[in-house]
Amino acid sequence: MTDAKKLFVKTYGCQMNVYDSERMVEALAASGYVTTDQVEDADMVLLNTCHIREKASEKLYSDLGRLRGLKAARPGLKVGVAGCVAQAEGEEILRRSPVVDLVVGPQAYHRLPAMVEAGERLVDTEFPVEDKFSLLPKRTAMRGPAAFLTVQEGCDKFCAFCVVPYTRGAETSRPVARLLDEARGLVAQGVREITLLGQNVNAYHGAGPDGAWGLARLVRELAGIDGLRRLRYTTSHPNDMEDDLIAAHGDLPALMPYLHLPVQSGSDRILKAMNRRHSADQYLRLVGRIRAARPDILLSSDFIVGFPGETEADFQATLDLIRAVGFGQAFSFKYSARPGTPAAEKAPVPAEIADARLRDLQALITAQQHSAQEAMVGREAEVLYEKPGRLPGQMVGKSGHLHAVHVQDPEGRIGDLVRARVSASSSNSLAARLLSRIA
Ligand code: 5AD
Ligand code: SF4
Repeated sequence: MTDAKKLFVKTYGCQMNVYDSERMVEALAASGYVTTDQVEDADMVLLNTCHIREKASEKLYSDLGRLRGLKAARPGLKVGVAGCVAQAEGEEILRRSPVVDLVVGPQAYHRLPAMVEAGERLVDTEFPVEDKFSLLPKRTAMRGPAAFLTVQEGCDKFCAFCVVPYTRGAETSRPVARLLDEARGLVAQGVREITLLGQNVNAYHGAGPDGAWGLARLVRELAGIDGLRRLRYTTSHPNDMEDDLIAAHGDLPALMPYLHLPVQSGSDRILKAMNRRHSADQYLRLVGRIRAARPDILLSSDFIVGFPGETEADFQATLDLIRAVGFGQAFSFKYSARPGTPAAEKAPVPAEIADARLRDLQALITAQQHSAQEAMVGREAEVLYEKPGRLPGQMVGKSGHLHAVHVQDPEGRIGDLVRARVSASSSNSLAARLLSRIA
């Protein structure tokens, strides 16, 4: 195509947005757009935004400010805002930022090409009833050996701090047949690892040939796809960790020994105020059951410090829970009041106190992450190569435990699955010696 228009996409926030950006790129490819990584060359800039914390939302407006100059120099430039800030703020974005042409919420991506064609300033933040993914083109992009697959969207849990139930809407699950189709298509393109995505992925209950299927059944079916070597899923809620899913961790070799299971706090009082609907002890017992099924599983979590009303004793309870579990890694955040959520009405914890707690919690998590990595030294790991390393002849990939692993392997290719012995651990990755090629 000689007159291809150039599309620059910036993705903020979670893996779901990464997946959505990919699908929007494919939808716009049908209208003649090809991607560029040089914003100065772009005919269209698409910002796929995140609303989860205030800082994430603010990034949009600072980026839009920077685009003003570019639009002045390139009057034909189209600027689109997608994702959760688009959903939450809608028209307000057009009012606040004259540079923006299109605002499209996460449930309206399939209408993006038509909006671009229309050539006027438009907002679409409707929640359609149809499966938007089935209206997008088939997935065709060149891809690496590990891919995301959105199976579920939205959330009905209404944690008191969280905007997701408002921006992504009610929990909906995609039908089984579509997911199996999409997964087979990915494998046919060389994908060997699929991470199933959803804001509350283990609440999955998609329509199957014989009634609704839970996540465990979906995972078991996907594991049977020839050529698909690895499966993961994220993000899970502790209250939806059903027996069959726990059992799958014990008996499905394709299900990788890593689980992101956010607990947010270790204080029962704060968990209640957060509307999490479980206690610290229930979480610890759940972890016990998961480890009984898969003893070597690495656990990861999200934590919020400085939730309104959090006392020093509540914070110490969180540190106690972290010590009791022993996480492989975790994400931790200072509480950020989000407009429209119940917790935003309450008095905040002073910023200095929240900052100090965040530092203490992160120091503990970093120490646990390092000891989890150190524990791998001397052990065997299976590594799926994702890219060449910085040194000549070196490959980098992920282990089953989701550690980044460097392997010296001049014959190695992206997509190879190898067995290697871990020889060293550095701050964020492992080094390993090649033992054999698995496939
Ligand atoms: N403030 C701080 N962190 C938040 N998260 C969600 N909402 C907020 C908020 N208002 C965190 C939670 C969640 C992760 C994706 O982001 O820990 O699990
Ligand atoms: Fe938000 Fe997760 Fe709670 Fe749902 S379960 S409301 S996505 S924090």
